[in-house]
Amino acid sequence: MPLLEVENVSMRFGGIVALDAVSFDAAAGEIVGLIGPNGAGKTTAFNVITRLYTPDEGDVRFDGESLFGTSPSGVIRRGIARTFQNVELFSGMSVIDNVRVGGHLRQGDQSADDVLFYMNLHSVRDRPVSDLPYGTQKRVELARALASGPQFLLLDEPAGGLSHEEVEQLGVFIRRMRDDFELTILLVEHHMGLVMGIADRVHVLDFGKRIAEGTPAEVQANTSVIEAYLGVPT
Ligand SMILES: Nc1ncnc2c1ncn2[C@@H]1O[C@H](COP(=O)(O)OP(=O)(O)O)[C@@H](O)[C@H]1O
Ligand SMILES: [Mg+2]
Repeated sequence: MPLLEVENVSMRFGGIVALDAVSFDAAAGEIVGLIGPNGAGKTTAFNVITRLYTPDEGDVRFDGESLFGTSPSGVIRRGIARTFQNVELFSGMSVIDNVRVGGHLRQGDQSADDVLFYMNLHSVRDRPVSDLPYGTQKRVELARALASGPQFLLLDEPAGGLSHEEVEQLGVFIRRMRDDFELTILLVEHHMGLVMGIADRVHVLDFGKRIAEGTPAEVQANTSVIEAYLGVPT
């Protein structure tokens, strides 16, 4: 049984169908990519999984049990953590206090300081987040997610706004986190070098529909994916 099962989920906003009977899953220990053009429904899928949105149809099961009886904070207690497409931190607060917010929501076994060391953030421990470069802020958000002691991590465009070098480090980091904390990871990302380099499997959304699923090599060779999103390789 997959750890996460999204089954036939539909989500409408007025006349917009953000998700149209979408199904996908992630098995324990996998890094699963979720890709597609802007507006395809990727962030909406994250918001459904984390219970910020209740879809019109369908179900999301975690470890065999529906998440729909669970509140957003209950989802974190179930072991699901996320980062946001646009960094959402308390910008006036210090790095350590932002990370503690993650730890307080769940009795994880990671102390906030341990997580800072792990993420190479200890040198900026007491600095206000607003003082830090964007790439460092994104790492703080990742640290906050880790501090809740998750089993499942959702990353919404973690490479967005990062330099080439930071993206390379991020790829190494995501893999290492998966191995060290035995995580399952769902990765929304436009940086194809990153996704195709670290994902075990990739699901592709386009206009709210899942149009393909497979290994990175299969998805990159899929004609509908090339037409909808990837374009012709140059
Ligand atoms: N809260 C919302 N209210 C209205 N429309 C929304 C809302 N959230 C997302 N949408 C719409 O749903 C579609 C999918 O958006 P989104 O999930 O953010 O796509 P992606 O993350 O793949 O770029 C878009 O057309 C977007 O405008
Ligand atoms: Mg998005």
